[in-house]
Amino acid sequence: MPRAMTTAGRERPHAEARVLYRITKALLDGQQTLERALGDVVAHLADFGMSGVEIAVPGLPLTKKRRRGASQRVLEDGRAVVSPSGFVCVPIKTLRREIVGTLSVEVPAAPEDDLQWDRRLLTVVATLIGEAVRAHRDRHEDASARAQAEAPEIAAPPGELVGNAHAMLEVYRLIRQVAPHDTTVLLRGESGTGKELVAQAIHHASARAEGPFVSVNCGALPEQLVESELFGHVKGAFTGAVGGRRGRFEMANGGTLLLDEIGELPPAVQVKLLRALQQGEIHRVGDEAPKRVDVRVIAATNAPLEAAIERGAFRADLYYRLNIFPIYLPPLRERKTDITLLADHFVGKHGRGRVKRISTPAIELMTAYHWPGNVRELENCVERACLLSDDGVIRAHHLPPTLQTGDSSGTTKAGSLDAMMRNFEREILIEAMKNVGGNMTAAAKALDTTPRILAYRLNQLGLYDLVARRRR
Ligand SMILES: Nc1ncnc2c1ncn2[C@@H]1O[C@H](COP(=O)(O)OP(=O)(O)OP(=O)(O)O)[C@@H](O)[C@H]1O
Ligand SMILES: [Mg+2]
Repeated sequence: MPRAMTTAGRERPHAEARVLYRITKALLDGQQTLERALGDVVAHLADFGMSGVEIAVPGLPLTKKRRRGASQRVLEDGRAVVSPSGFVCVPIKTLRREIVGTLSVEVPAAPEDDLQWDRRLLTVVATLIGEAVRAHRDRHEDASARAQAEAPEIAAPPGELVGNAHAMLEVYRLIRQVAPHDTTVLLRGESGTGKELVAQAIHHASARAEGPFVSVNCGALPEQLVESELFGHVKGAFTGAVGGRRGRFEMANGGTLLLDEIGELPPAVQVKLLRALQQGEIHRVGDEAPKRVDVRVIAATNAPLEAAIERGAFRADLYYRLNIFPIYLPPLRERKTDITLLADHFVGKHGRGRVKRISTPAIELMTAYHWPGNVRELENCVERACLLSDDGVIRAHHLPPTLQTGDSSGTTKAGSLDAMMRNFEREILIEAMKNVGGNMTAAAKALDTTPRILAYRLNQLGLYDLVARRRR
């Protein structure tokens, strides 16, 4: 609206009320950024007949930069400038009277009275802007304060580890804390919780990262061979020892040695391991001369070592020597929030780019399951599902029968035909409803059934929420 028509008489208050309403609406719209809202304010004032509108807020991108001197003065002394040549500049103040910027306009040269009208209007607009800027800053300060407070937690997990469940953040903290030192670490946790990955992460975060990482499973070898596996042997040390051989300790020289399933180590070898740890020396089987080795030892176990000590199967002195810095890995059922992250990670690892996502019902089943085999079981499950999927999506029926508990009430037995059928139906209905944006008539048509039957089935499966609101 041309300003000339609105400046005098009764027209003006109406036009002012209108422009103020529009400006308030733009500034209060939480959906858009402050920059966009300020852009709208400029546009509304231009519609009102003011040209050369300039909003200058230090710290925000400025609009134009003419008349800088005048706005600088206003910014400094907080008093409006009204010049008869048709320039009005007012300070942008918050309700707490803090000056955060300036608002200036050019108007056609006009009588002093008209310019004072403009000044009053702009003062109101400037206060609205001031409050919007303050709210914007509060939000930002909150967000950056929060980010700062959380900074140690949102740091990327060490090594190849995936997951940000609270219990795992503590594990990451311990890894970072212990990695730089040569301290012996004892990793505890059920099978498949990621002990090997944690050992690798410690190695890679340590000064030995360039050195070798060697892993040996103490439970996998017959008793006679374990000692030679760990410490090596000389030629002729025992029947069959045709040549000399380095053991894992020597292979790990300058690096890290993971002794997995330490609880399975035969008592005779436990003594020798203790000596190696205490003296930094090993003896090859059949060799009297000690060899110095520079190895950081990490031990892992999923067995309760304390019970083994009671039984006399594990030496207490070795236990104390190993248990200097224990790290406990929580079972997957105690960090359910990580299931989706891990599952997506394994889709990336095993899906060969062919499998893109996991359907919501499949994720629901995964989240409900208790995962006795922990992350390893989840990985195997996703790998298998990737092979079964033929359209790039992992669906509920690609998951093994043990996961198919069907409903949350627990009335259906795991793996029963009934449960699997329900999951299959859920999957089909969710997909169909998604494809048509929740339009029940369209979904019924696509599934070659009637809206009545579809509504009944959706209700039965607790899926009625998928129906778009306007259709209800
Ligand atoms: N946090 C994790 N992020 C990504 N992958 C993981 C994680 N935890 C475990 N895995 C994967 O799960 C599998 C099992 O992990 P790992 O071998 O480290 O378990 P473990 O605790 O050593 O088990 P076990 O006691 O049976 O030896 C591996 O393939 C590993 O890569
Ligand atoms: Mg392991």
